[in-house]
Amino acid sequence: MGATRTADPDRSRHASQPSATERVRALGTETAFAVAAAARRVAESGRDVVLLHIGEPGIPTPPHIVEAGVRALRDGLTGYVAPVGIPELRGAIADTVRARGIPCAAENVVVTSGAKPLMLYTLLALTEPGDEVLVPDPGFPIYESVARLGGARPVPYAVRTGADGLSASEVAAGIGPRTRLLVLNAPHNPTGSLIAPAELDALADLVLEHDLRVLSDEVYGRLIFAGRHESIASRPGLAERTVLVDSFSKTYAMTGWRLGFAVMPAPLVEHVSTLIINNTSCAPPFVQHAGIAALTGSQHCVGDLVARLRGTRDALVRGLASIDGVRIAEPVAAFYAFPDIAPLLERSGLTVNQAADALLERHGVATLAGTGFGAGGDGHLRLSYATAPERITLAVSRLTDWAADLSSRS
Ligand SMILES: Cc1ncc(COP(=O)(O)O)c(C=O)c1O
Repeated sequence: MGATRTADPDRSRHASQPSATERVRALGTETAFAVAAAARRVAESGRDVVLLHIGEPGIPTPPHIVEAGVRALRDGLTGYVAPVGIPELRGAIADTVRARGIPCAAENVVVTSGAKPLMLYTLLALTEPGDEVLVPDPGFPIYESVARLGGARPVPYAVRTGADGLSASEVAAGIGPRTRLLVLNAPHNPTGSLIAPAELDALADLVLEHDLRVLSDEVYGRLIFAGRHESIASRPGLAERTVLVDSFSKTYAMTGWRLGFAVMPAPLVEHVSTLIINNTSCAPPFVQHAGIAALTGSQHCVGDLVARLRGTRDALVRGLASIDGVRIAEPVAAFYAFPDIAPLLERSGLTVNQAADALLERHGVATLAGTGFGAGGDGHLRLSYATAPERITLAVSRLTDWAADLSSRS
């Protein structure tokens, strides 16, 4: 037997500390994952739960896309490929982006495992510690979380429901000497809003005037019911300053495949490639082949999805509008309703989190509290209407009972 090991002073110091660094403990999260687990627990107790918490189209991936992925697997396309994506997919993406009026060549395209990693890569590549980043509030929580991870300071700006969800003058009010990056998300999660063309022009002017960069998250860009979605990258001089993030997840019902992409200025591609090499190495090639089929095949599946979502949106909005204590503005894009339930909270004395918990635990409807999207989401719930029409009908009936329950506590 060897000599007894002496205590390592470094080890004992770490042992007395929490299990992870402050940096990692400060990371934000998406509450959808925690609510999914809570909904599973309720369902396991034998109760039916209507799942309106999750950001998924709620249909299977179209068969021609699945077939392309399976064929690529059978053809043995199972090895590492170029970190920024295979040339055929980068080319197909560039073609679709140019068709939207945005200058783009295959060299500007980076393919990743879902859109989400691009938030971190962009924040790390474009901000220094101490820089400020303008983020939507309410907004997708990952922007703020990864900004903090990189040492930048998130500065919120307000977003509302409707076709003109954002005011450029409110964004301008948050710009200071350290502002480096503007994060835009339109169509917007969680409000289902768009940016009006005149506001987009004004934002483009702000970006040029203050020498900013833009992260434009457009993953819901094809799911529009009223008005038009335009990218800030289509404005003169903006493609050179914008990382346009898009995904196959929502448009083609491919959330679990993990396939996203960004279009960015060519000099940035090399740096993002290095970040990918340090992380996932590449997106799986068979998944990328499914992506080519999605982009180059029939787009009827997207039209069908939008038609289906329009039906469930209308049913949910009608139902919510009929509930005393709930105020609902019609969402114009994406697949979320963001009702204001402040009157119910006032009557019941509950917080929005407690009200969402009661809705799940006692009435069997899983939703997200608006506070999971920032302080600006307080008083609201986010409901995904990407589900079957009969589930929406059932959800409305349960929401009506829940609202009556909360109102009777006053
Ligand atoms: C605004 C927004 N951006 C990005 C994502 C993530 O997309 P992906 O599945 O491609 O990572 C989501 C998912 O909910 C989202 O709502």
